[in-house]
Amino acid sequence: MKLFGTMKLRETGCLEIGGCCVEDVTREYGTPLYVYDTKLIRDKCSEFKTNFVSDYFDTDVIYASKAFLTKAMCNLLAEQDMSIDVVSGGELYTAISSGFPAERIYMHGNNKTREELEMAIEYNVGTIIVDNEDEVEELNEICEAMKRNAKVLLRVNPGIDAHTHEYIQTANHDSKFGVSIYCDNTKELIRKIVESENLNLKGYHIHIGSQILLESSYYASIKVIVDFINKIKEEFGYEAEELNLGGGFGVYYSEEDTPFPLGDFLKTLTNKIHIEMVQKGLSINKVMIEPGRSIVANSGTTLYKVGNMKDTYGGKKYIFVDGGMTDNPRKALYDSKYEACIANRLFDNNEDVYTIAGKCCESGDILIKDINITVPKKGDVLAVFGTGAYNYSMASNYNRILKPGVVFLEDGKAIEVVKRESYRDLLRNDI
Ligand SMILES: Cc1ncc(COP(=O)(O)O)c(C=O)c1O
Repeated sequence: MKLFGTMKLRETGCLEIGGCCVEDVTREYGTPLYVYDTKLIRDKCSEFKTNFVSDYFDTDVIYASKAFLTKAMCNLLAEQDMSIDVVSGGELYTAISSGFPAERIYMHGNNKTREELEMAIEYNVGTIIVDNEDEVEELNEICEAMKRNAKVLLRVNPGIDAHTHEYIQTANHDSKFGVSIYCDNTKELIRKIVESENLNLKGYHIHIGSQILLESSYYASIKVIVDFINKIKEEFGYEAEELNLGGGFGVYYSEEDTPFPLGDFLKTLTNKIHIEMVQKGLSINKVMIEPGRSIVANSGTTLYKVGNMKDTYGGKKYIFVDGGMTDNPRKALYDSKYEACIANRLFDNNEDVYTIAGKCCESGDILIKDINITVPKKGDVLAVFGTGAYNYSMASNYNRILKPGVVFLEDGKAIEVVKRESYRDLLRNDI
């Protein structure tokens, strides 16, 4: 079991995060509960901001809000001088409602609706990342009608094999995202944007996948995209001013994951971009990255209450908790691995191998398979680590199970930032 950020083992046997005993936190806010170590989020933001810099071009670190977004998270990011990327009207609305500066918002999406594009223009979103030809035409029309201009990046697919789970690879040749740099039509699309009255093409966006643990995947993508920038410049004179390299930096979930050291990687990344550019006689004004998971995954822990237990005829020992795939669908989606502990009896060494399952009516509702853990008692607090990214944001109400609340922990204080849902909330749109 790996401890992150401010986590400590208290002598009382209770896990501490942000100076708070998690058992006390569950007494106050109930379970299941998402808790966040906000100091660790700040530290991660500053690790990115201090290392992703260059003497030759401006840089911007854009938090990929799909990983975890609430108004409180937007406020924390604004304090850290981060930018935000959003992929839907809902994410955009959340950021704008928190007062996050619109010019620091990047709007993504492979199928943005007309309403979402209009919203982005109306709110004065800083940059729209256009994904395909249909969208380019629609956005141009909207800008024409609203008498506005939009700053855009074109999402291109560099065809890089990122060695990650198939569902989170985004740049293979059949990906639904962006337009391939290998398609002849892409050149024509770039020409169309450059010649359009209302769109100001600043450059390109790529994102090669998520939970990437090999630095070389990024270095390979830089070579490919710089070659592409050069090719387009040679063919019809358009030279990109901005380049967004996306996110996807891998994190530790279990012993199977060895993330690369971020600081050194970011320095190498900016150096390599500069070298590749110089070699091709190109220059670039601004380079961006979009980390999501690597900012929040290890800052988040989900706290559950141990309920019933069961030994099966087949020999499996189950621990059932009061949440499951509704608050963490990643095991079912990607076969993700997690570490966990009985957080109120840390020094009890009487252990056994258990499978931790949720309360949903699905056999696939498993959180962790075959983990060696303290023999639990009903009512114990089970902490599952590394659940800060794509858990709250992917949570559902399957089986009409209520979504947990979110509590930020820092300096011995627990601050509720999202209330636990109530049964009344569940019915709010039922007619
Ligand atoms: C366009 C884009 N940028 C950034 C990210 C963030 O990826 P991660 O959370 O793995 O850093 C994603 C995730 O899918 C993405 O699609």
